[in-house]
Amino acid sequence: MIRRPSSFLTIVVAVFVIFYLYYFANQFGSPSSYLPSPVTDSNLQKKPPPPLGSQPDTNPKDRYITVTETVSSVTTKTAFSDSRVDSNIHSVAALPADYSPSSDDDLDQDATWCETRYGPTYLQTIAKNARPFCKPESQSQFDCLHSNMYGESRKDSLCLAQNVVFEDLRFNIDCELRDSREPDLMGYPHPHNFQGYWYDTGPRIIMTQFTNMGSEAAPSFEKHACSNPATPRDDGYKVLIKREGGRNYWHSLMEILSFYFTIDALQMSINKKTGKPYMSPEDTSKIQVIILDKHDNKNYFELWNYFSPKPVLTLDEYVKDPSTKPCVSNVIIPLAGASNPLWQGDWDPRICDHSIIVSTIRRRILKHLKISTARDLHSPINLTFIDRKGSRKLTNSKELTDALIAAYPNVNVKVVDMAGLTLKEQISLVVNTDVLVGVHGAGHTHAFFLPSQSSLVEILPADLKHKGFRNLAGLRGIRYFSDHAPMAPSDQPDRSRDWHAEDVVFDKDAFMKLMEAAIQSVAHRGFLDSDVS
Ligand SMILES: *[C@@H]1O[C@H](CO)[C@@H](O)[C@H](O)[C@H]1NC(C)=O
Repeated sequence: MIRRPSSFLTIVVAVFVIFYLYYFANQFGSPSSYLPSPVTDSNLQKKPPPPLGSQPDTNPKDRYITVTETVSSVTTKTAFSDSRVDSNIHSVAALPADYSPSSDDDLDQDATWCETRYGPTYLQTIAKNARPFCKPESQSQFDCLHSNMYGESRKDSLCLAQNVVFEDLRFNIDCELRDSREPDLMGYPHPHNFQGYWYDTGPRIIMTQFTNMGSEAAPSFEKHACSNPATPRDDGYKVLIKREGGRNYWHSLMEILSFYFTIDALQMSINKKTGKPYMSPEDTSKIQVIILDKHDNKNYFELWNYFSPKPVLTLDEYVKDPSTKPCVSNVIIPLAGASNPLWQGDWDPRICDHSIIVSTIRRRILKHLKISTARDLHSPINLTFIDRKGSRKLTNSKELTDALIAAYPNVNVKVVDMAGLTLKEQISLVVNTDVLVGVHGAGHTHAFFLPSQSSLVEILPADLKHKGFRNLAGLRGIRYFSDHAPMAPSDQPDRSRDWHAEDVVFDKDAFMKLMEAAIQSVAHRGFLDSDVS
């Protein structure tokens, strides 16, 4: 009885303290609210819709807040929509400058190299380098944005053509080109002279094969009376895609990422003519992808549908679609897949150890495909062995995986042929994988989706010194292990054999040593309840 008042008091104090802590937690929000806008990963995602009942905008100019920030020693203006701004919250100036690396800083060369390719600087640079190419009297506008990872020697372009006429399988752009010697255009590729890329992809080939420009375009404008405001028009955003093939997972993902970067940069870049970004977050729901190539497959269409559920159409389907109209408000010619920064430095080891761009796109795709990343950390270590059945097989894979299963009874080993699974099934498996193993190939693209603190193992054919997947693992912050395996014996003379097609055979002891290193690396993360033996 005597102790009762004091325990009652303890409870009262405890309740009070809990309430107090809860109140403060809500006051200050999560640490992510300290991240700068609009360059952080959270801001690269789609903006949430405004709350129900919020006031409609009266003055569209007020919808954008301009912040000044210093990146690469150049002062730029960036705008973002006000959907995050609440009148009760103080406006906030930029983060202290040393949060954004600048070229004046004494960064090592790799840090600058990495930031300009895999950090927000990549998108900001594209957004900054917007150039209008048409004289003002033109009926269309044709503005291009440029990345410049190669400095002066090469610029990669993406373009937005506005007020365009679609006729006879071509997009007609009524644009009288400005003189390429005008100061603001100097050093930028002219629309007749864009960078070319492998597999006949990218803006240059799309321009020559699927557009008419200048005087060739004028007759269609008259014919369809597109300048007459009463003429019905399609006010969506048509994105013209010419794929490298659509079959190879890595190549396809690079193209899809270049498309995402294109739409991101158009939302960041201010159109001088309107004073607003070329695209708003709302505009992204009006995106429709049109596939221009003739590759007969619809692989990865779910990823082309990321921004909008509008069906991805082939050019033939677009022509036949009853909703297709000759007068089109916006046509986007995206960055080529081959211009993707992830293609860079494939043969050199890089020490880029994180990437906001890669982690954002990973999150985007997982969310879009509704794949949960929640993990049961009490389950055994999951090891996934990619058993290629087509080219570049491991001829003794059965011997190796049997030995692995026997040696590690506590590791959950799955031997899979990814080709038999849907993309969603593949990625769902990978996000639950601790160690991903396979012979060099597109399956290693899945390093993109591996969970943090996992390990990637690459068995490289004979002398192949490719560093692409090693560098990707670095960008994801996951560990990487590799070894070389000789080509399997064959009647062909060695000189005529190409590693792309040849099977490999891997020594069992070398394999077990490689796997021991990889398995130990994930056993030492501190996740497991069991003792490491
Ligand atoms: C391992 O895979 C199983 C499914 O086979 C899954 O239920 C489990 O959560 C996975 N473990 C981890 C740590 O992801």
